[in-house]
Amino acid sequence: MIKNICCIGAGYVGGPTMSVIAQKCPHITVNVVDINPKKIAAWKTNELPIYEPGLLEVVSEARGRNLFFSTDIEKGIKEADMIFISVNTPTKTYGKGKGMAADLKYIELCARQIAQAAESDKIVVEKSTLPVRTAETLRAILDNTGSGVKFQILSNPEFLSEGSAINDLHNADRVLIGGDQTPEGQAAMDALTEVYANWLPRERILQTNVWSSELSKLTANAFLAQRVSSINSLSALCESTEADIEEVSRAIGADSRIGSRFLKASVGFGGSCFQKDILNLVYICRTLGLQEVADYWEQVIIMNDYQKKRFADNILTTLFNTVSGKKIAFLGWAFKKDTNDTREAPAKYVANHLMNDLAIISVFDPKVKHEQMYADIDSLDSRSEKKNRELLTPADDPYKACKDAHAIAILTEWDEFKKYDWQNIYDNMMKPAFIFDGRNLLDHKLLKEIGFKVKAIGKAN
Ligand code: UDX
Ligand code: UDX
Repeated sequence: MIKNICCIGAGYVGGPTMSVIAQKCPHITVNVVDINPKKIAAWKTNELPIYEPGLLEVVSEARGRNLFFSTDIEKGIKEADMIFISVNTPTKTYGKGKGMAADLKYIELCARQIAQAAESDKIVVEKSTLPVRTAETLRAILDNTGSGVKFQILSNPEFLSEGSAINDLHNADRVLIGGDQTPEGQAAMDALTEVYANWLPRERILQTNVWSSELSKLTANAFLAQRVSSINSLSALCESTEADIEEVSRAIGADSRIGSRFLKASVGFGGSCFQKDILNLVYICRTLGLQEVADYWEQVIIMNDYQKKRFADNILTTLFNTVSGKKIAFLGWAFKKDTNDTREAPAKYVANHLMNDLAIISVFDPKVKHEQMYADIDSLDSRSEKKNRELLTPADDPYKACKDAHAIAILTEWDEFKKYDWQNIYDNMMKPAFIFDGRNLLDHKLLKEIGFKVKAIGKAN
């Protein structure tokens, strides 16, 4: 039976997942380790490094009891029966597979750290999303340590969605565990199954081979992203006709074969996983000579890029073909509500596009730090950091962000935006006062009554 778990990587995935395991399994000691001392220090306070509803309550319950945070990776590895690898796997920004393949350098580093520190047999669990067959790389490193220590490698992809991570972990639709089809592999899968069975019904814990498990994660995200791109492609058609994308979504979602979720038209999908996982899938297919399959999935990304650009272009053309020197207020910067995560957030691409036309952007987001907004826009390398600071101003207050603006763009569907005093906002804006609702979040009828010119996704206005 597993008594001690170590997780390498205290990020958006490792942090919440381990907190819930510790909460639900008081008999297991859970050590979360990370190379970043600032992050570990924050996990020990009530100012957690990530914003996730309900997370602080879970952490508070288990921290100091059987949940610990540390930078001592070696000690964590030595003490553990089971080690989760939950480090980031960004898209490569250099060399072979640049812009497409996942960068596995952190995974490899973890494998080497484990190989070096381990003094007893371990089960190593891939939690990070990885290209299919990464387990083989891990195995190659771990099995060549010459120390006599035996490793079993499992794939246990994470399906939690940010903003609802705690609920997703508490009530997972399914947990996927991939392992070797050998007696030792089966024993390792069973050991991990026992951990999850502390709070989830056994029929939801699926065991497969390693490759199926790795591929299922990429496929699940590709299917979800494909639904968003599909509905977004039709939103463009709706804007040119009398159809309304929300009515279309409702109508098709009522078909139980299609289902109603992930049919919300938007400014585009973001987040750390969708684009990266699809690029991965595309890269693997290309590498294997499956050109048509690669092209098929790549179209999901192409459509998403089109949607972000279309939104920005719509602002530009509606504002009489020039945004130069005009203030445009962004409400929302995070890639979705209830998170402070901005990875691949559509907001930064829309902002960048408008800044190319010298728009002055002011941004309010309830959870994203100002320095993060600057880091995001700087990361696009479109202009000097100085120029970015001239053109983009984070704001502490939504009313200040919107004051004297020519237009407001909704980039994230934060609930609080619905409750703002829109009459007050309107009174303090330039006229005509435009709202571009990239999430179809607000009450458009009310806004029009106030006097706003409203442009929404997938609606002819
Ligand atoms: C995740 C998943 O694990 C990845 O598969 C997914 O595709 C993207 O999201 P996430 O938890 O969101 O990662 O990433 P992040 O919040 O960046 O956390 C990763 C942590 O690993 C960071 O805190 C980083 O400091 C740490 N890390 C990285 C290590 O401890 N060691 C390393 O060698 C590299
Ligand atoms: C996703 C997967 O859902 C999760 O299972 C996996 O583990 C990690 O990747 P996440 O990226 O946290 O989770 O958020 P998700 O809720 O899937 O949203 C992704 C993006 O799609 C967001 O930008 C969201 O705003 C957008 N989206 C989602 C839409 O535009 N329309 C929708 O109908 C649904």
